[in-house]
Amino acid sequence: MSSTTTQSDAALAYVDAHRQPFLDGLLDLLRIPSISTLPKHKKDIRRAAKYIADELERIGLKKVKVIKTEGHPLVYGEWLEATGKPTVLIYGHYDVQPVDPIDLWKSDPFEPAIRDENIYARGAVDDKGQMYALVKALEALMRAGGALPVNVKLLVEGEEEAGGESIEAYVKAHPKRLAADVALVADTGMPAPGVPALVYGLRGILYTEIHAQGARHDLHSGEYGGVGPNPIHALALVLAGLKGPDGRITIPELYERIQPVSDAERTLWDRNPVDVAALLKQEMGVDMLPGEQEYDPRERQTARPTLEVHGIRGGFVEEGAKTVIPAEATAKVSLRLPPGLRPADVLPLLERRVAALCPPGVTMTVRLVHGGDAVLVPLDNVFMRAAEKALEQEWDRPPVFERSGGSIPVGALFDSELHVPIIFMGTGLPDDNIHAPNEKYHLPNFYHLIRQAIRFLEIIGGDPAIVARPGSAAASGRANGRKRAAPTGTAPATVGKADVTEETGAEAVQR
Ligand code: BES
Ligand code: MN
Ligand code: MN
Repeated sequence: MSSTTTQSDAALAYVDAHRQPFLDGLLDLLRIPSISTLPKHKKDIRRAAKYIADELERIGLKKVKVIKTEGHPLVYGEWLEATGKPTVLIYGHYDVQPVDPIDLWKSDPFEPAIRDENIYARGAVDDKGQMYALVKALEALMRAGGALPVNVKLLVEGEEEAGGESIEAYVKAHPKRLAADVALVADTGMPAPGVPALVYGLRGILYTEIHAQGARHDLHSGEYGGVGPNPIHALALVLAGLKGPDGRITIPELYERIQPVSDAERTLWDRNPVDVAALLKQEMGVDMLPGEQEYDPRERQTARPTLEVHGIRGGFVEEGAKTVIPAEATAKVSLRLPPGLRPADVLPLLERRVAALCPPGVTMTVRLVHGGDAVLVPLDNVFMRAAEKALEQEWDRPPVFERSGGSIPVGALFDSELHVPIIFMGTGLPDDNIHAPNEKYHLPNFYHLIRQAIRFLEIIGGDPAIVARPGSAAASGRANGRKRAAPTGTAPATVGKADVTEETGAEAVQR
């Protein structure tokens, strides 16, 4: 056994001996209501950032700082003393979604409760619990061996759930500082308990508000009915027209631009032992899955574009009756975009379609709220194989490779700006209720994530030959049709690239 393997074993033992303090630390973080979309939680957001920065400092990371941005702060820390070893950029987010409808929570979203091996709290799995697990992996490695097996740069954001504009600016301004060989993210899920997953694809997103303007002011529906424009009805016509009952979006050119899913990729999906369609029905409490029936539910859920209406505002919604024709109405509408469709290209297509569907007398505008690109990580690289091996060791079965339908805009950014492969190794479960009441994290999966991250870092810090074995799913080549982005089977490339450059942006450091 090599000495590095010994460190890994010691680190795993450290985790097992510190289950309670690790959990206590997470519970404290979960008590901070760091909701990024609501301005009144600005102070809580800062408290959460400070909490993480203090932990990083305590663990022994260097250059730890809370970085001020136009929006919510970023937290950064690094440890670059593993000369000759690869550099891993670890990402997570400490902000959470709002909690309404609050009445449906069985316990306070910010007073974590443990029931049946699950931690119930807002952010438990998305993403405080998972981000914190990666931090605890570093802590265990540091405490067990006094050093990390690889170089690490850790970047945690506080704005992911609100569109993540600040991190985009930061990554674009500091590609050298963030230079790495691979990125590690735990903000995704696995198909079922006991079935580990590596997510290699995520959809992008285009989030908009469609505003409909009719008359200058509200109208009496008796006096003006028959001659006045009704923006709510106009909006209903547009929304109904954008997607048919067959699930097909009617925006011209949309489907022509998608990168098709390859047969090799479908073969990879078939390794997933879980009956996804049955699971989806069970989780939603429905007996059929609407949408494009000619596509497999897995493809619909992760690799086809979607168009969803999130909310409609306008008119009279109080009790009783009021005979009014409202002057305006608004709908929140988003599209999930598979690789090939970029938000900036889809926005004008949507605008054109809305204009074409809009009845006379009403003016409609489409406002961009936020957008993010899809990401597709090449499978044939040494880091993907290392992750595959790490998960296999941890779970006693190989991971499945899957795409996820959600969006993590920073993934595309790491790909396009930093040119690193991204390993998404989350341990969320389909019934974790992310963004919904009673969000939870399966406690065993918290510990599994800490342990699988330790194994992963250990493997890539060791002999690359350890993962250069034939027969792994990740080694089966260009299953997702993407070209290679990282060295395969050879020594990683960041040696000497890891120096931190001086700050160039106009950011202040606040602790
Ligand atoms: N962690 C999720 C993304 C996710 C969800 C990945 C499910 C895999 C499975 C992330 O925090 C999130 O919610 N992202 C937003 C996008 C953002 C731009 C608002 C999303 O997907 O709606
Ligand atoms: Mn998340
Ligand atoms: Mn989320």
